[in-house]
Amino acid sequence: MSTLKVSRPSLPGQQFYEGSVFPLVITCDSPDATLEDVKAWIQENRDTLTEEASVNGTILFRDFPVPSVEAFDEFIQAFGYRNFKYEDSLSNAVRVVKTERVFTANEAPPNVTIFFHHEMAQTPVYPGKLMFYCEVAPESGGATPLCRSDVLYERMQRELPEFCRACEEKGLKYTNVMPAANDPTSGMGRSWQSTLATETKEGAETRLAKLGYSWEWLDDGCLKATTPVLPAVRELPDGRKVFFNQLIAAYKGWKDTRNDPSKAITHGDGTILDRDAVLRAADIAEELAFDVPWQVGDVALVDNYVAMHGRRTFTGTRRVLASLVAADEFAE
Ligand code: FE2
Repeated sequence: MSTLKVSRPSLPGQQFYEGSVFPLVITCDSPDATLEDVKAWIQENRDTLTEEASVNGTILFRDFPVPSVEAFDEFIQAFGYRNFKYEDSLSNAVRVVKTERVFTANEAPPNVTIFFHHEMAQTPVYPGKLMFYCEVAPESGGATPLCRSDVLYERMQRELPEFCRACEEKGLKYTNVMPAANDPTSGMGRSWQSTLATETKEGAETRLAKLGYSWEWLDDGCLKATTPVLPAVRELPDGRKVFFNQLIAAYKGWKDTRNDPSKAITHGDGTILDRDAVLRAADIAEELAFDVPWQVGDVALVDNYVAMHGRRTFTGTRRVLASLVAADEFAE
């Protein structure tokens, strides 16, 4: 049995709901603990931790001995989850791969806000969980805001019932324009070649067709792609409904020289979204935000179905790295 001492303390601003807290905080109280001790503890408690991440939305691990990116990779591996590779994803963020399981969270510049979203919910292939690791805390700003999607959707159902009905009945469709080469100045600047893991137009078309997308090649070599109809709301196995999509991020943030956010997203039948309702949903999400106050060595385990995340602007150097867990986390 592991002898690691841990506790579940409270943190300023932590939110309390019936049967859950947000986020759940677990601290390591054994000052001499090694990474090996921590890995043994994770292996023993994996099922409990997985359940706690799902119930509460996020676990913030603080004061654990995770001194480097390599240590973070080992910390992740101790859970035994199946990896979700950035290379295999259709994410539109530019990222730098660090280890087998770890990459930079997003290479977008410090003055770019990344709005609330469920990771890759704008594609048919998304991770079940995310893990973040703070290697270097920024001088100021740079928190990772989190929002409980089930709490958000409950509020929306009370305030915006018609919009919620439209979302549930019609779903959503997303359009984005991918550049012909990575554009690191944009939060969505990943090239079509990298996104679709191909060097040729034919390869891109084959992949898109398989995923049910429609597309158009633009004169400047960019690729405009529209997703199949994707659900806007999911019901979790325990009955909670979550606003599982990229609506807020797409509407507020899919803005660069190639993309116009007001055209980026429609209902599944092509009808325009109720602008006031979308902006109200974004405001409620902001009211519900918990900003993770990063300390070096912190690890956050986010259940991608339950909690949305984003990124605040910052100054100075910020290195928050990420790792993704496949949706079928324990499959061989
Ligand atoms: Fe993200």
